[in-house]
Amino acid sequence: MALKTAVIGCGGIGNTHGPIYMRHPDTELLGYCDIQEDRVEKSATRDGVRKWTSVAQMLEEVGTELDMVSVCTAGGDNGGDHYKPTMECLNAGLHVLGEKPISNNIEHAREMVALAKEKNLCYGINLNHRFTPPGAKAKEWITSGKLGTPLLCNMTMWIGNPNETSPWFHIRALHPHSLDIMRYYCGKAVKVQAFFNRSPKADGPDGKRVCWSNAQVNILFENDVVGHLTGSYDANPSHNLERCEVMGTEGRFVLDNCFEELTFYPRHSMELTVIKNSIMGGMSGFGQTFDKRIGRWIEQIKAGVDRTEIEASGEDGLAVQEIIEAAKTSWEENRVVDVAG
Ligand SMILES: NC(=O)c1ccc[n+]([C@@H]2O[C@H](COP(=O)([O-])OP(=O)(O)OC[C@H]3O[C@@H](n4cnc5c(N)ncnc54)[C@H](O)[C@@H]3O)[C@@H](O)[C@H]2O)c1
Repeated sequence: MALKTAVIGCGGIGNTHGPIYMRHPDTELLGYCDIQEDRVEKSATRDGVRKWTSVAQMLEEVGTELDMVSVCTAGGDNGGDHYKPTMECLNAGLHVLGEKPISNNIEHAREMVALAKEKNLCYGINLNHRFTPPGAKAKEWITSGKLGTPLLCNMTMWIGNPNETSPWFHIRALHPHSLDIMRYYCGKAVKVQAFFNRSPKADGPDGKRVCWSNAQVNILFENDVVGHLTGSYDANPSHNLERCEVMGTEGRFVLDNCFEELTFYPRHSMELTVIKNSIMGGMSGFGQTFDKRIGRWIEQIKAGVDRTEIEASGEDGLAVQEIIEAAKTSWEENRVVDVAG
C-alpha cells in the first residue's frame, strides 16, 4: 500500500517535494498545506490534491490517514519556521522529513529531535547532497579501508546568495550540507575554530554585507581527522558548487560537485581511479539529489526501519547545527570551542 503523505510549505522547495511524491509509486500525495492561501491553492490545483491553510486543519481532516509529511517551511536563516509544524506533526504521530537547516534555534532543534525519539517516530532531514552514487562509492572506500586510516578532510561549498536575513544566515542556511558531507565521511566532530568575513556591499550598513558571507572553519573529529571547511555566499556555483577531499594513510579521494566526478589517488601508485557521472543514465543535474534523498526516505519508511537507522536523520541535522553554533561561538569569543552533543 502506498504511503500517504502531505507537504507543508508551498515555496520552491515544497513544490519540489510534492511532485516527487506524486511520481513515486510507493507514495500518495494527499495535499499541500500553507498559511498563504494563494500559494497552497496553486500547488493543490496543479497536482489535483487537497489543500489546507493550517497544520491543525490538515491534521483534523486527514491526520489519521497520513503516514508522514515533508516540512518545507523556511523562516529565520531559512529554518526558523520548521519548529511549529514539525512539533505538531510529531505530536500527531507522523514521520517527518524536514528541510535544512533543522532550525536556526538550537534549543528548538534539540526539542524536535527529542520528541521524535520519545514518540519513536522517524525524523529525517533533507541533507540531499550526500545522496549520490559517487558519494556512496566514496563512503564505501572509507569503510572498506581503501584510504587506510583517514587523516585529513577538505571541504569547499560556495554559491552566490545576496540575501541577508541575519549575520549568521550563510553558515546556518548553507553549511548544514557541507558539514553533513564531512560528518558522513569523518564521523563525529569534537572541536571547532572559525574565522569569518563580510564582502563589500555598497548599500550595506558599513559598506559591507550584513551576513558573514565567507567562512574558514577548522574541525577536529573524534577519530583524529583534521578537517577544514571553506564556505561562501559570494561565489558563482556554475563554476563549481562543492568539492570534498578525504586523505588517509593509503590514498585520498576528491569528489567534485556531489556527483560529477570522483577520483582516487593512491599513495603508492600513479594509477588513478576516476568515476565520472554517466551522460547515459547518470544524474541529470543537482535537482536529482532531491529525488534520490526523498526516494531513500520513502524506501526506509516503507521498509519500516527503526528510527535510529534513518539516513540523514534529525540527529544528523542537529549535529551539524551544533557545529555551526560552535563556529559562531569560536568567532565571537576568539577561541577553540568544544562541539555540544
Ligand atoms: N535541501 C536543499 O538543497 C534546499 C535548497 C534550497 C532551500 N532549502 C530549504 O527549503 C526550505 C523552504 O525553502 P523555500 O525557498 O521553499 O521557502 P519559502 O519561504 O519560499 O516557502 C516556505 C513556505 O512555508 C510557509 N509556511 C511557513 N510557516 C508555515 C506553517 N506553520 N504552516 C504552513 N505553511 C507555513 C510559508 O507561507 C511559505 O509559503 C528552507 O528551509 C530552505 O533552507 C533546501
